[in-house]
Amino acid sequence: MTINIPQIIYGTAWKKEATTELVIQAVQAGFRGIDTANQPKHYSENQVGKALQELYKQGVSRKDLFLQTKFTPLNGQDHRIPYDPEADLHTQVMESFQSSLKNLGTDYIDSYLLHGPNGHPGLDKSDFETWEAIEEIHESGKAKIIGVSNFNHMQLTTLLEKAKIKPMVVQNRCFARTGWDKLVRDICKQHSILYEGFSLLTANPFVLEASEVVKMAKELNKTPEQIVFSFSIQIGMFPLTGTTSKKHLTQDLEAINLKLSQEQLNLVEYIYKTLKS
Ligand SMILES: NC(=O)c1ccc[n+]([C@@H]2O[C@H](COP(=O)([O-])OP(=O)(O)OC[C@H]3O[C@@H](n4cnc5c(N)ncnc54)[C@H](OP(=O)(O)O)[C@@H]3O)[C@@H](O)[C@H]2O)c1
Repeated sequence: MTINIPQIIYGTAWKKEATTELVIQAVQAGFRGIDTANQPKHYSENQVGKALQELYKQGVSRKDLFLQTKFTPLNGQDHRIPYDPEADLHTQVMESFQSSLKNLGTDYIDSYLLHGPNGHPGLDKSDFETWEAIEEIHESGKAKIIGVSNFNHMQLTTLLEKAKIKPMVVQNRCFARTGWDKLVRDICKQHSILYEGFSLLTANPFVLEASEVVKMAKELNKTPEQIVFSFSIQIGMFPLTGTTSKKHLTQDLEAINLKLSQEQLNLVEYIYKTLKS
């Protein structure tokens, strides 16, 4: 199956009542991938849906968009739980998925993710039960691809060993000091899993401030943020950005076309090794 996933994805966390307006702004700027979750604590999925209705009126077509949402287990929810918390896990996933379809005004999701594992540091029985329900949604054709988020390399390895349907996407917070999540990215490469990175800027302020990165940005007439996004894309990631600024939306999209040399990529990849502990 060919998966058409946009090279950079617009993230909708923490935008509250501004979500609708910001999603419209992002799509108008050129974004086609939208990430949300059925987790009212951090996301307003129904407001993403409102933005989509407005965008359709403006001529954007559903088939040109890549909509990604997530099942958030009870440990990631507040009191606004979008499913029956007393129900079994299979029912919880099905109810959450139906509610996502309704919020987003669609009859299919491009990418459906398990927001995070319950077990730690490995997986527990509930994680497998949840994954089986997500597999069932994929088999029904209503989620084109399925995946996981906030998984460490052990959890991903275990799921790959045991799952009937392997995850096709991993979405993780990406710290430069872990070699930009190298252990997980290596597994993804081996198994042709798409790797989405978030917090690329906020988790790595020292990279943006590093004199070598600032100098490289100046020479290329770009910003350090664009260097980080461009680097992430060139090493095979699909970065997320949740910028609220029109200027940054354009700059983040421009990073797709910025090509760094191997030497520049190496500099950004290994810059964490120059840090004093
Ligand atoms: N799966 C999970 O558990 C999980 C967790 C967290 C996030 N996510 C997803 O990832 C998305 C992104 O979240 P994030 O943690 O990466 O943080 P973020 O919300 O994207 O924040 C990025 C920060 O960088 C700034 N920024 C963006 N582009 C910039 C540019 N070109 N120049 C200068 N500053 C720039 C933004 O400021 P401005 O607004 O001023 O541009 C903002 O302060 C979320 O919306 C969500 O969809 C998923």
